[in-house]
Amino acid sequence: MNTAPRKALITGAGRGIGKAIALELSGSGHHVCLLSRTESELKNVCAEIEARGGQASYLCFDLSDAAGYPGLKAQVESQLGRVDVLVHNAAPSYRPAKLTRMAPADWQKTLSVNLEALAQLCGQFLEPMREAGWGRVVSIGSLSGVLGAGSYPAYCAAKAGMEGLTKNLAIDYSRYGITINMVSPGFVETERFKQAAPPEMVEKFKQATAIKRLGQPEDVAHAVDFLASDKAAFITGINLLVCGGLNLGNLW
Ligand SMILES: NC(=O)c1ccc[n+]([C@@H]2O[C@H](COP(=O)([O-])OP(=O)(O)OC[C@H]3O[C@@H](n4cnc5c(N)ncnc54)[C@H](OP(=O)(O)O)[C@@H]3O)[C@@H](O)[C@H]2O)c1
Repeated sequence: MNTAPRKALITGAGRGIGKAIALELSGSGHHVCLLSRTESELKNVCAEIEARGGQASYLCFDLSDAAGYPGLKAQVESQLGRVDVLVHNAAPSYRPAKLTRMAPADWQKTLSVNLEALAQLCGQFLEPMREAGWGRVVSIGSLSGVLGAGSYPAYCAAKAGMEGLTKNLAIDYSRYGITINMVSPGFVETERFKQAAPPEMVEKFKQATAIKRLGQPEDVAHAVDFLASDKAAFITGINLLVCGGLNLGNLW
């Protein structure tokens, strides 16, 4: 049995949910490589991981740079050797708008950093996992991709597309020891969420869950850590909702 630390690449790991995933995977023994565009945030997360005794490195890369992926693969492999666990968590900020009023650039950016980046990353890192006979892909979707959400057309389309791609890849690659899953949060109290959610809505959001609270980044990170582990070896192609029962409706 291979007892070497597993190597994990985590996109959008400079803050929010991605940072929590990086800390959690590092805590469970992974050597993590953190990716986003903001070096100062990545450096801070690396320092926090190293202060806890973990191993971390980082890469600045814009996931909307479609031509940059072969170069990204080379850089990641020079840091990690190979990627055992790929977590695609990054998503750009977006301005809510109905389809007929949204800027074409917002549509393109949202599809690119969520859905197309998942395809690009899997295109680079699935084959080495297949050769190794073991791998994990976990991408972060959203309850909005399952239930829909008003004024977020590109976001809903991108997250729903990620679920379709997850299922396709699970069918094609799970026979090689690779599981491919998705974790879809409800409302999670990150800085982005706090800036976007009007205070009067926050109580409404809490009451709409069955558990009567907002999610914390760690709630999502725990699910990712499980799906990335050997214990989840028979789970593939799923979209695990981590939303406190927000999907159940609020009639009762
Ligand atoms: N928070 C919630 O309530 C919630 C609910 C449902 C789903 N989610 C999903 O959870 C994930 C994380 O959300 P969050 O709230 O933690 O968001 P966040 O705090 O805004 O973090 C997003 C991360 O993605 C990175 N990123 C954005 N654009 C990028 C690009 N072009 N290239 C590389 N990295 C990029 C950001 O870093 P840079 O800007 O420095 O590049 C940042 O590290 C997302 O997929 C989101 O859709 C969140």
